Amino acid sequence: MLRSETAFQKCIAPGCGATASIQEALVTCPRCGDLLDIQYDWNRLPIPADWTVFERKWGRRHDPLCHSGVWRFHELLPFASPEHVVTVGEGQTLLQRADGVAPYVDLPAGQLFLQYEGLNPSGSFKDNGMSAAFTHAQMIGARQAACASTGNTSASLAMYCAVTQRMRAVIFIGSGKIAYGKLSQALEYGAQTVQIEGDFDDAMFRVREVAEQLGIYLVNSLNPFRLEGQKTIMYRVLEGLRWEVPDWIVVPGGNLGNSSAFGKAFSELHCLGLIDRLPRLAVINAEGADTLYQLYEVQGMRWDQGRADRATSDAYFRRLDADQRRASTIASAIEINRPVNLRKCLRALETCDGLVRRVSDQEILDAKAQVGAGGIGCEPASAASVAGARRLRQEGQIGAGDRVVCVLTGHQLKDPMATVAYHSRDPERFREVLGSRGVHEAVFSNPPVSVPNDFEAIVRAIRPSD
Ligand code: F0G
Repeated sequence: MLRSETAFQKCIAPGCGATASIQEALVTCPRCGDLLDIQYDWNRLPIPADWTVFERKWGRRHDPLCHSGVWRFHELLPFASPEHVVTVGEGQTLLQRADGVAPYVDLPAGQLFLQYEGLNPSGSFKDNGMSAAFTHAQMIGARQAACASTGNTSASLAMYCAVTQRMRAVIFIGSGKIAYGKLSQALEYGAQTVQIEGDFDDAMFRVREVAEQLGIYLVNSLNPFRLEGQKTIMYRVLEGLRWEVPDWIVVPGGNLGNSSAFGKAFSELHCLGLIDRLPRLAVINAEGADTLYQLYEVQGMRWDQGRADRATSDAYFRRLDADQRRASTIASAIEINRPVNLRKCLRALETCDGLVRRVSDQEILDAKAQVGAGGIGCEPASAASVAGARRLRQEGQIGAGDRVVCVLTGHQLKDPMATVAYHSRDPERFREVLGSRGVHEAVFSNPPVSVPNDFEAIVRAIRPSD
């Protein structure tokens, strides 16, 4: 049976519903320009009877398809034949019970979990999606791939190109808008790096234009295959909870690929009968990049079974342009004002009875320090999820007895500048890196102590004060 018979691309607009073969490289519907989903004819596919199908794969970890945290769930993203699958061992991530962080969110021990995607080979959740997009690119014989990026997508793309030696990577980044840890990855892995005057939104606009004109394979999360890979983050969350659905999934929102993928994952699992209820979804924007919050919470824009009125978001974007308002946050990964997956995210919020909140850079860095003090290092954008969970708990939206999973999207070492500026109590560095961000104090700072090169002085400095 040809895979193309059971998996296909489909426009998400119910009024359109155009379909296309998975052999095509499309990022939007050729008929109406809306986003595309990968859909499956589940009636003609072997649906897993229960979760033990996946558990049994733990015993066959010598097989790369069982070892990968993405392809271990192949039955739930069955668009590729096994011989096409590209894997570098992504998705070896674990749900961590975070009793050290729970008090900060005001949850009792055992109720807060962190899904730490920083453990991926390139240090962020992007590898889940990149493995899937790369697999599709291989299926259709693409030779060159491109993305716009705030840094993690580009690091992931560059890594897959370098490891597999199968495609050339071209990455578009905004000038001065990328954390050094991420830039260093793209450079070292040999990607062609194009720094565009402007920010991520400018780079995103240009890469779409260039990729379309030159026939380059686009791996941004507009690419529906990317999101198939990112669904597996939620499968691993469920696995970590012994297949019990948590009450809340809390995730940072940037280009809104993750939230969209999570909504699709849960909706499919529910339809397939693998789960009997849906979690609630909370998407957390940074205050300085809060398009989703403005549209969903302030203007009340809803998916409304696909009838979401594009005029609302179009007017919002026109206003951003007129006011020359640019996204601005210390969480550079989510410094995005024009999220390409907006409509899919609205759909996910409908599926999962969702909420959107926005948190300040101060809240993000304080939450990040608490996550770090709990033993897991994450980058600023990731900590937005924990800051958001704390906020929702204060509001009473999250109940004291709820089970909450916050997704930590990227590794701490991606962006050490913000961390060091926060902790070091060096006023100049603090002002330079954080001052313009409205971060006033480092509530949980752990500064280094300076001592002379002298034994007695060192002993005095490290002796416990009591
Ligand atoms: N967290 C991190 C660490 C990210 O790198 C990103 C996105 C997000 C959260 C937001 O995720 O787009 O699915 O809502 N980074 C992209 C990039 C934009 O280019 O690396 P989203």
